[in-house]
Amino acid sequence: MSEMWHYSRRALMMKSSIIRETLKLTKKPGVISFGGGLPAPELFPIKDLDEAAHKVLTEQGENALQYATTEGYPPLREFLAKRMENFGVEVSPDEIMITGGSQQGLDMCGRVLLDWGDVVVSPRPTYLGAIQAFNAYFPKYVTLPSDDDGMTVDGLKEILETNNPRMIYLVPTFQNPDGRTIPAHRRQRILELAKTYGVPVIEDDPYSELVYKGTIPSPMKAMDSDTVIMLGTFSKLLAPGLRIAWLIAPPGVIDKFIRMKQGADLHTNTFAQYVVYEFLNAGKFDVHIAKIKKLYAKRLKIMIEAMEHYFPAEVKFTRPNGGLFLWVELPGKVDTSELLHKAVEKNVAYIPGTAFYPDGGGRNSMRLNYSKPTESEIGEGIKRLADVFKEALVKK
Ligand SMILES: Cc1ncc(COP(=O)(O)O)c(C=O)c1O
Repeated sequence: MSEMWHYSRRALMMKSSIIRETLKLTKKPGVISFGGGLPAPELFPIKDLDEAAHKVLTEQGENALQYATTEGYPPLREFLAKRMENFGVEVSPDEIMITGGSQQGLDMCGRVLLDWGDVVVSPRPTYLGAIQAFNAYFPKYVTLPSDDDGMTVDGLKEILETNNPRMIYLVPTFQNPDGRTIPAHRRQRILELAKTYGVPVIEDDPYSELVYKGTIPSPMKAMDSDTVIMLGTFSKLLAPGLRIAWLIAPPGVIDKFIRMKQGADLHTNTFAQYVVYEFLNAGKFDVHIAKIKKLYAKRLKIMIEAMEHYFPAEVKFTRPNGGLFLWVELPGKVDTSELLHKAVEKNVAYIPGTAFYPDGGGRNSMRLNYSKPTESEIGEGIKRLADVFKEALVKK
């Protein structure tokens, strides 16, 4: 009998996600997990979404349950075009496509922009989910190191000149995984170079609404609309289970995305789009965002205070002013993938940094999330982690 399952090269290349594997480990009862990137479920606006869903079904059920256009529900796209004005982004609803999560937006960027072996430029570390999405199109990664201000630009010109990259992928504001933000002057420099060498910038932006302290620079999309494709999502602002997000691309470019998405899934869940729009239109969004910001700001503060108190002095960490994550770096010799087993024994978990390095590195680093664990879990979890670090540092 001959072998039935001949997998595509794409399927054979796909590795199991380290995040999924780590999350499995952390399911052990009693483990305090800083591993996921989950919003606080106690703040999901369940009652308001229930009301919105009821209204949609009773008043517009026939449309909300029907097939619809690939680009998405027009009132939702109009709302988003208006909302983007708050950030200085001037776009027409025709430049916006609703996607099934930003993860689908990333996949679409891969499908539309990448052929086998094309180069993607990104910082190291960068968002793991983007690496996974792009990997299906077999790119090569050329990465630049990060400092406190996110991706550094020394060497970017040479990379653009010699590698003919197809995109620069960035999470410029409160990056997942490190919480770093690229300041305006650096954004400007990246855009100047991108424009000169004709390389689009993918600005993945789930976190600009989650500012807890200070202000953030304008989105890169506001600085140079023609060069930038911007992704936004309701996952961290309302609920990730809704899978409602959006992609903004220049006129002409957006048509390629719409055609590509049509082949993938026809359109994003119509009912969910209507429900989200109903929620937004009821004027509840800003109140809700204020509520989640208040809680996450508190959790971030508690985490930083606990880290300052318990962590050994050699352990460095970022102090973001927004988003959901911060980044920890141990002295060079410590391997955080090995250390994870020790940490889980002590009932605390994180994601090892190597997951966020598309071309290797990051062995002594880790990502921590502070939106999902409760305040008391944060204090206790950081204490446990500090014990794991102290043991590891004594051994080295
Ligand atoms: C930078 C970044 N991009 C995209 C996503 C995916 O978001 P979504 O739930 O909208 O697919 C995430 C989720 O954590 C993220 O952090």
